[in-house]
Amino acid sequence: MPKRTSRKSPGPNPLTVVILAAGEGKRMKSALPKVLQPLAGLPLLKRVIDTARHLEPRRICVVYGHGGERVREALVDEPVTWALQRERLGTGHAVLQALPQVGEDDRVLVLYGDVPLISADTLKELLGLAGEAAVGLLTVRLDDPQGYGRIVRNARGQVQKIVEHKDANRRELALHECNTGVLAAPARLLRQYLAKVRPANAQGEYYLTDVIALAVKAKVPVRPLVAADPTEVQGVNDRAQLAELEAAFRARSARALLLAGVTLADPARFDLRGTLTHGTDVFIDVNVVLEGTVYLGDRVRVGPGCVIRDSRIEADTQVFAHCVVESAVIGERCNIGPFARFRPSSQLAAGVHIGNFVEVKNSRLATDSKANHLAYVGDADVGARVNIGAGTIIANYDGANKHRTVVGDDVHTGSNSVLVAPIEVGAGATVAAGSTVTHSVPAGKLTVARARQTTIENWQRPARTRK
Ligand code: UD1
Ligand code: CA
Repeated sequence: MPKRTSRKSPGPNPLTVVILAAGEGKRMKSALPKVLQPLAGLPLLKRVIDTARHLEPRRICVVYGHGGERVREALVDEPVTWALQRERLGTGHAVLQALPQVGEDDRVLVLYGDVPLISADTLKELLGLAGEAAVGLLTVRLDDPQGYGRIVRNARGQVQKIVEHKDANRRELALHECNTGVLAAPARLLRQYLAKVRPANAQGEYYLTDVIALAVKAKVPVRPLVAADPTEVQGVNDRAQLAELEAAFRARSARALLLAGVTLADPARFDLRGTLTHGTDVFIDVNVVLEGTVYLGDRVRVGPGCVIRDSRIEADTQVFAHCVVESAVIGERCNIGPFARFRPSSQLAAGVHIGNFVEVKNSRLATDSKANHLAYVGDADVGARVNIGAGTIIANYDGANKHRTVVGDDVHTGSNSVLVAPIEVGAGATVAAGSTVTHSVPAGKLTVARARQTTIENWQRPARTRK
């Protein structure tokens, strides 16, 4: 039997995602372009790009507007191409600017840079509906459809057209099914229809929405998908809407963590601005903010009010209230805080205690060492079982350069001692309280570096002279 040959390559046609981001975002009242406003720590547009990437498109093209160079610069490392829309003549006109970058046989998915919570699952479903020869349209039923384009269906429930709020008559205004703006269609059809769209409407714009009526007229099926979760398709125009979506995102990530076995004292008072990986039976108290990439090991407990960024905390460690931890690796069974601060690049071995008002920066502490109160440990390599007394300062900075300090195993530093770097404190040494140590300290001995205490026997307190 002769082999069947097919004109097309196997699998669906390549996908191009077009993201519209040419809006000015005046209502944000911000110097920062709207699509760069952060939601849970990431720019809105970056979130949409990340979601689009899940669909493995051949290309992602972002349509940006006049003055949008800042957007391009901010997202210069993203694997996207850019299309400039010089004048903001409407959503149809915006998509047209991207079409030169779209392959003839591509499928096109239109997304919005200011609709950040759209999910890849919903988009996959929509793309499935659209296939190679139909238009997929994402709609949403809203209690308050004010401002949205309305979906007009016929008696058989088939989508006929989209009418913008400003162009709608009374009957159409009463409809609650709204256009989300998201649609999927073959590039070939979009090209044909967008060439026909005219700005003959209340806003004098080239409406992308007009392609729906054109498809219907050409007997091309329009397949609607009603979004199950309205927050997925909600756009951001002002800071109130941004806060709503932030709350929705917070609720979503909290729920996912709860279901993954993490205890949150109050899911409404927990913010994840990044990704958390975790072991079992992790407990997170109220008002904790996790940023960047955070790992919490088995049975880690995080007290109220902590901020932890880009850090790894191993099993059975407790972080008490109000600690700030940045770019640190904290070993097993450590006790941290309350009120401890880790500036970047510190590493703690197992069993280390860092107590209240202790700042640690770019330092390593070996097993079971302690700095329990009021200390600064900067640029230091601290051995095992060291006790850093209250008020100890490692003076790492001479005003021009930073220097390292090495503290051997089993060292004790007395209260209020200053170790002036660069310096080495030998293993087992004791530094007397109040010492200012500027030379290296020998191992195993007591070093005192302060004025000796003397008592002046015949001293008399000055008395007031009579006039
Ligand atoms: C649009 C839809 C409307 C839908 C609503 C959902 C049209 C004609 N109307 O209305 O049916 O209910 O979104 O929010 O499509 N943009 C550009 N260039 C332009 C115009 C817009 O990039 O020239 C971008 C904007 O940055 C924004 C998006 O497209 O991200 C939507 O534009 P917007 O003006 O907000 O459209 P709506 O009038 O809200
Ligand atoms: Ca809008």
